Amino acid sequence: MIYEIKIYGEEELRIKSTEVEEITPEILEILENMVETMYNAKGVGLAAPQIGVNKRMFVIDIGDGVVRKVINPKIEYFGDIIECEEGCLSVPGIHKNVKRPEKVKITYTNEKGITVVEEADELLSRAFQHEYDHLDGILYVDKISPVAKRLIGKKLQALAKGNI
Ligand code: CO
Repeated sequence: MIYEIKIYGEEELRIKSTEVEEITPEILEILENMVETMYNAKGVGLAAPQIGVNKRMFVIDIGDGVVRKVINPKIEYFGDIIECEEGCLSVPGIHKNVKRPEKVKITYTNEKGITVVEEADELLSRAFQHEYDHLDGILYVDKISPVAKRLIGKKLQALAKGNI
């Protein structure tokens, strides 16, 4: 099942999500549908708040042959601050540079209930950080430069009003 993706301005994107208490069949079904929704939208990641579910979980497929279903992640940041272009399925039509730490160590529960620890850099690190932020109600456009934010201000307003 393909979910409707929440767009910039919708309140679910701004709520701090709560932990998944138990991996129920319903949670597994939501994660599976999130993967389908992510592929349908041609994204590399999708967080539960983006489909209006304020639970701490997201899915990622950066094309490395692994579909990650990430539940209750904890994240640690390492390395230099580097700038890379990002986009978001909830902020369609916009891509902007964002500064973030280069590397992360992430600990999460996967869909089988197994604890997974991963260290990541490059695209996977970016994806983890971007999706993790969604769980705290943070969007990448919150982290772009003031100049870049001014440039896309009208577009963001239009998105929030549902005019795009
Ligand atoms: Co996003």
